[in-house]
Amino acid sequence: MAISRPSLDTQPDREPSAPVPPASNTPAFDLEAYVARSRAVDLSAIPWDEIPRHPLSAETVRTLRFMQDIEIHTIIYLRSLLATRAIDEPEVATFLACWVYEETFHGIALARFLEAAGYPLEPRARPHGREPLSQRIEAAATAMVSKAWPNFCAVHMTWGAINELTTLTGYRRLVAIARHPVLTDLLERIIIDESRHFFFYYRQAEIRLQRPVVARTARFLVDRFWVPVGSGVQPREELEFMARYLFSGADGRAAARKVDDTIRRLPGFASVQLVEAWMNTNVTESAGATGARPGARRGTPYGGHHGHGYH
Ligand SMILES: [Fe+2]
Ligand SMILES: [Fe+2]
Repeated sequence: MAISRPSLDTQPDREPSAPVPPASNTPAFDLEAYVARSRAVDLSAIPWDEIPRHPLSAETVRTLRFMQDIEIHTIIYLRSLLATRAIDEPEVATFLACWVYEETFHGIALARFLEAAGYPLEPRARPHGREPLSQRIEAAATAMVSKAWPNFCAVHMTWGAINELTTLTGYRRLVAIARHPVLTDLLERIIIDESRHFFFYYRQAEIRLQRPVVARTARFLVDRFWVPVGSGVQPREELEFMARYLFSGADGRAAARKVDDTIRRLPGFASVQLVEAWMNTNVTESAGATGARPGARRGTPYGGHHGHGYH
């Protein structure tokens, strides 16, 4: 079943005389195998009773709360996506069904970890489903862009690739910083899922951005509207705290730069400014400094998780 490649031939605004260059050396994503293997993250071997025996900093708990909230928000982000062309693309729709399932279980797993560590989650002040007006306007704007632009999925896939890569990099950084053996075990399982998500989005983006006219529009939208996952879902100070905790210092900066460099290999994105530039504009590294600087980008019609960013 040929479900691993989008059909470029069905794109309405294709320039008839423009040959489609071959995609890069990135291997094909085997969607059929992914769907067959998709399941909830396996928690059966996690030694939950051992969690309180290891130190867990307040900063790690705060970061985990943020990440848990973003994972659980995935289904709300999916609600916005279902109002776009994503639902009309069989490969994308199939992927999204498994993706939201896996992301939801990431949220459940992180909630269970926090509870076992003695930090059960409080009920959310605003339920996820009751989004603020700004988020609903962003969802409507996304649907409008999708309606107006036949190649909307190219930017959706690029967006997803950025956010999945940021998410899995964030989890890797948390493993390195927290040094909690049970958390490491749990996050390494989640990271395997996030790596598969990233691969799907990245490969799709790479194929869909082959045509310069599509890449130019996608690049414009990312330049104008991209902000890290969690923007608009969690308070800004929480996003800035987490960004500083995970991506400050030499190792954090190097991790952020690696995300950016990977996305820069996509067609048309060679000079894109993403995580590191956002850090430079929005996050000061000195303790206690959280202020956003003038000129910081705000808002996006593509909002949330990987959307789920740090998903
Ligand atoms: Fe996730
Ligand atoms: Fe993911």
